[in-house]
Amino acid sequence: MYCISVINQKGGCGKTTVATNLAACLAVSGRRTLLVDMDPQSHCAVGLAVPEDQIEKNIYDVLITSYDENRMELKHIVWQISKNFDLAPSGIELAALEPQLAGQDRREDRLVEVLSHDASDYEFVIIDCPPSVGLLTFNALRAADEVLIPVETGYFSLHGLTKQLETLHVLKKQCQQSIIIRVLASMYDVRTKLAREVLNELKKHHSTMMYKTIINFNTKLKEASSFGQPISEYDPSSKGMQDFLRLAEEVAVGAAQMQVKPELSIEEQLQAISKTADELLAESREVLGEEPAFRNKAPQSVEARINEFYGIREEPGKVKFAALYPKADQVQLAGDFNNWQPEQTPLLKADEDGRWEIELPLNGGTYQYRYVVDGRWQPDPYNKRVSINPFGEYNSLLEVK
Ligand SMILES: Nc1ncnc2c1ncn2[C@@H]1O[C@H](COP(=O)(O)OP(=O)(O)OP(=O)(O)O)[C@@H](O)[C@H]1O
Ligand SMILES: [Mg+2]
Repeated sequence: MYCISVINQKGGCGKTTVATNLAACLAVSGRRTLLVDMDPQSHCAVGLAVPEDQIEKNIYDVLITSYDENRMELKHIVWQISKNFDLAPSGIELAALEPQLAGQDRREDRLVEVLSHDASDYEFVIIDCPPSVGLLTFNALRAADEVLIPVETGYFSLHGLTKQLETLHVLKKQCQQSIIIRVLASMYDVRTKLAREVLNELKKHHSTMMYKTIINFNTKLKEASSFGQPISEYDPSSKGMQDFLRLAEEVAVGAAQMQVKPELSIEEQLQAISKTADELLAESREVLGEEPAFRNKAPQSVEARINEFYGIREEPGKVKFAALYPKADQVQLAGDFNNWQPEQTPLLKADEDGRWEIELPLNGGTYQYRYVVDGRWQPDPYNKRVSINPFGEYNSLLEVK
């Protein structure tokens, strides 16, 4: 069994798309594969048309009982998706695992224990993680032979990558096993100059830490998940399918070689990737300086622009919300200030880069909100303050003075 955890604390960078389609393509090529959903938002089940109301037990039940005498085994929760392809679904209860296990010994080893007992029949286990760092992601890290970090080929994703690597750096101190860490260029849009430049730089500095395969932006991949199918079923002749078949082969070859231990320690790998990410950030700034939207800005203002303009900002008598969704057709805001009615508060697209914004007059108090991006509800990726809602999902928190 070879285990790959798909991790990035940045929301919406393609983790679930990669985990689901990589698992499907490993299965298509004859490898028995288990996909484990560690995200309480259950997007794997949604993307594979497993009816959520019929999932009686999920990975939460397996993890919470994993050290008990009458533990629930994986086989009792697994759904067969297609030949060679099984899913261990998640559920909203998973969001409660961390508080419920607080203070308990070896709580971060639960998943690795479960897999070592129950998953030896699988050639590959792929783990989809939530966009946050906590006990769930840590369990996935402890179970991993390999960590796959999907990174959108844009400046803001690189910004996220540096943060992600800092986090992995802290977490890795508690991991004894050797892990290989690789970056996957995802949602690559060859038409964008910035994406091309960033990819070239990534390749130049960083070829050993990157998958050779690139996952292009392909609308068939988006459509496939909204139809509840992996790309191998939805459109096997698509470019998306070709990309994922290539990734599956690369991963399989790498896994075979990984029986030999990696030459670099995990610390050295992280340092190498971090350094590259910093260099890339610096170079991306230069590239961005040439982009039309930034042409009149002093180069040093780019960093300031990120901190200042994305997220929430209180101004006299109003709060400004700004987010970057370059590929969205519609972005709306829903919160307890508008009875969670997103259609009342659409954001306006403010520039060609895909910056969306809205201003609301809000009285002092604490509010919860989410964005609705092309119909998908999600927390504000630029606001670290969140709370878990009754559905087990994250709401963003806003405090107006
Ligand atoms: N290569 C791609 N081409 C086109 N669309 C893509 C691609 N990868 C992901 N998407 C789309 O981008 C959106 C976000 O992707 P996805 O849900 O996989 O991200 P995620 O990292 O799992 O998000 P979260 O952090 O919320 O779990 C989805 O609508 C998905 O269909
Ligand atoms: Mg996801």
